[in-house]
Amino acid sequence: MHRYQNASGKIKVLLLGGDPDNVEPLKEILLRNNFDITQVNSLEEAMTSSSKEYFPIIVCDIELHRRDWLASLSNSKQLQPPLVILVTSHATLETTVAALSEGAFDYICRSEDPNRLEADILHSIDRAIKHLVAVESHSTVISQTLEKSASSFIGNSPPMTRLYRMIAKTALSRGNVVIVGESGTGKELVARAIHSHSDRASKPFVTLNCGALTESLLESELFGHLKGSFTGANSNKKGLFEEAEGGTFFLDEIGEISQSMQVKLLRTLQEGEIRPVGATENRKVDVRIIAATHRDLLQRMEDGLFREDLYYRLNVFNVEVPPLRDRREDIPELVRHFIDRGQSKDPKTIQAISEDAMTFLLTHSWPGNIRELENAVNRALGMATGNILLLEDFPEENNHPSRSTSPSPDGMTEPRNHREKEKSLDEVQAEHILHVLQVEHFNKTRVASILGIDRRTLYRKAKHYQISLSRKSID
Ligand SMILES: Nc1ncnc2c1ncn2[C@@H]1O[C@H](COP(=O)(O)OP(=O)(O)OP(=O)(O)O)[C@@H](O)[C@H]1O
Ligand SMILES: [Mg+2]
Repeated sequence: MHRYQNASGKIKVLLLGGDPDNVEPLKEILLRNNFDITQVNSLEEAMTSSSKEYFPIIVCDIELHRRDWLASLSNSKQLQPPLVILVTSHATLETTVAALSEGAFDYICRSEDPNRLEADILHSIDRAIKHLVAVESHSTVISQTLEKSASSFIGNSPPMTRLYRMIAKTALSRGNVVIVGESGTGKELVARAIHSHSDRASKPFVTLNCGALTESLLESELFGHLKGSFTGANSNKKGLFEEAEGGTFFLDEIGEISQSMQVKLLRTLQEGEIRPVGATENRKVDVRIIAATHRDLLQRMEDGLFREDLYYRLNVFNVEVPPLRDRREDIPELVRHFIDRGQSKDPKTIQAISEDAMTFLLTHSWPGNIRELENAVNRALGMATGNILLLEDFPEENNHPSRSTSPSPDGMTEPRNHREKEKSLDEVQAEHILHVLQVEHFNKTRVASILGIDRRTLYRKAKHYQISLSRKSID
């Protein structure tokens, strides 16, 4: 159960009403839709109630002449101030802008038609909930709400909190999005979060890596083709734009597309239409584009490689995903998360991580960002022999990128001196095993994999050659 909900899982709403004729229909709507409502009749009561108990949402049905309470609510010390939905009999552009800028989450004009009123209220509450979830997307609530827990966000450092706010804002608006960030920072995760918190969430989320395809394949992937339009086009094929109809199309590595594809994409965005390869007529499409790139698009524009008009069509929202080195405080939580996830199938044997291993993780520069950290933890889980992750379980290349003495993975080593020819095969094997053991800090799993044998064989050979597999007896 989350703090938004009461004991039976209903979402809590504080209803602030004045005129019974106005508030009764609202109350019925909220009850009918399974909200847990607490009704109060004055501003003072509302303030008292919301200071005693947390209400995620306040529906306010009185005409307010003073709205300073909105500001005091949002300045309150609560982690997440309540979202206030104002219902009014008379809304103008000016009052709407005023209400929203003073801190109301939404401003609804009361419709005469009860069905319309209900739809408006529910839509607004729905947006409010999505908003709360997006802002707190690192909390447990979101892992139920996002498609899979695998896609949940970890981290509540200031850069991540800013990112959550940006995701929420973007998800609740329309307009295309450009996500920029270094490789492995979580751009795709951000794109999915924007989609799943938007009003397109129930529609498809389609992804395409633009960098992975040749020009002609890319065109047919995007727009589809008609049978016979080129050699090998044996049937009609729907393009991904059409697959994404009503939903979101994630164009990864947008910086890689050619000039002529840029023109075609621009035309689609301008006209909301596509033309399959070989077709003579256009088809309408309604798709929100989220594009991502690890490149500096402004620089590419300056260099004449990326069209300015396309950039401005795409870049209605610009979301920057921070590199991991700028939010190191998230590393311990991420590590715990990846340890849990990495062991989800096996019995959880790893319980902790040693201090020096954590120091290493906290100080490494992580050029490959979260993906690199995730891979490092997963490999360490494979290496670990006890129930604690040790420094030596982490890949050496994270530590010393230019380790030159390392044997190549196929187990070959540098040429030995001529005396070797006089050694027996057994001696060479024993020496080589010992050499790899030392280079790999006695990490048995890694040694076995470098030697191309399984761990049991390694133990057998070590016993045969009387080689100790533990570091202590050597030191
Ligand atoms: N905040 C986060 N919390 C937990 N996991 C994350 C977070 N950000 C990213 N990840 C994980 O890190 C990995 C990389 O994320 P993602 O694929 O979204 O990055 P990317 O920026 O698209 O990378 P690339 O540039 O390499 O395509 C994924 O496994 C993702 O689930
Ligand atoms: Mg990606």
